[in-house]
Amino acid sequence: MIVAIDGPAGSGKSTVARAIAERCGLTYLDTGAMYRCVTLACLRRGIADDDVDGVAGVARGVRIEFGVSGEGQTVLLDGGDVTRDIRTPEVDRAVSAVSAIPAVRDVMVELQRRVGKAGDVVAEGRDIGTVVFPHADVKVFLTADAEARAHRRAVQREGGDVARDARASADVAEEQAILAEIRRRDELDSTRREAPLRPADDAHHIDSSAMGVDEVVARVIELMERV
Ligand code: DC
Repeated sequence: MIVAIDGPAGSGKSTVARAIAERCGLTYLDTGAMYRCVTLACLRRGIADDDVDGVAGVARGVRIEFGVSGEGQTVLLDGGDVTRDIRTPEVDRAVSAVSAIPAVRDVMVELQRRVGKAGDVVAEGRDIGTVVFPHADVKVFLTADAEARAHRRAVQREGGDVARDARASADVAEEQAILAEIRRRDELDSTRREAPLRPADDAHHIDSSAMGVDEVVARVIELMERV
């Protein structure tokens, strides 16, 4: 079975996809982490995000793997653990430009389809239901208003988790900066020419602004049971 979960930054895709993977025994595929790895490799090598050929060369040359640790899934770039390094504000700033490059997407989509061929997968990203797995068994487009998404990210960055503590708060200035960054990324990701963020025609829309993780997970499992 293939479950596709698409949506904008901070909509809760990762939390939901991870929970589904765990409960239903599917492989969790975090495609955003893959674009982040390419971005980090470019930053480390001093390749600018507008150097299309340079970035494409990096995408073709890097080795991206997923592992597990006591804290959950880890991300490996050329054998080194980059689980934390791919979530910095520097990577946040450059990842939209990197992921808009068609040659980069070709390489990543190919890798993602290989994972899909190997077994049951719950994949999250922006183009899973539209491009990567257009024949996915279940397609979900998960949204939440920008303020709710910024709040979740801000709490997360301070080590908290709104899924566990609904009243968790974060630094106001930090949250405002994240909100501006989220709005910028939404705009870039949904207006780019190549595989823009948009729901597949047959996707189920879920707005998680006022929903708990368990509620969203239950809805998705319900959809899986109907297949
Ligand atoms: O889900 P995320 O925030 O980790 O994704 C990081 C960036 O990668 C996001 O700004 C857009 C891009 N991305 C993409 O273009 N296609 C995907 N399938 C997943 C992510």
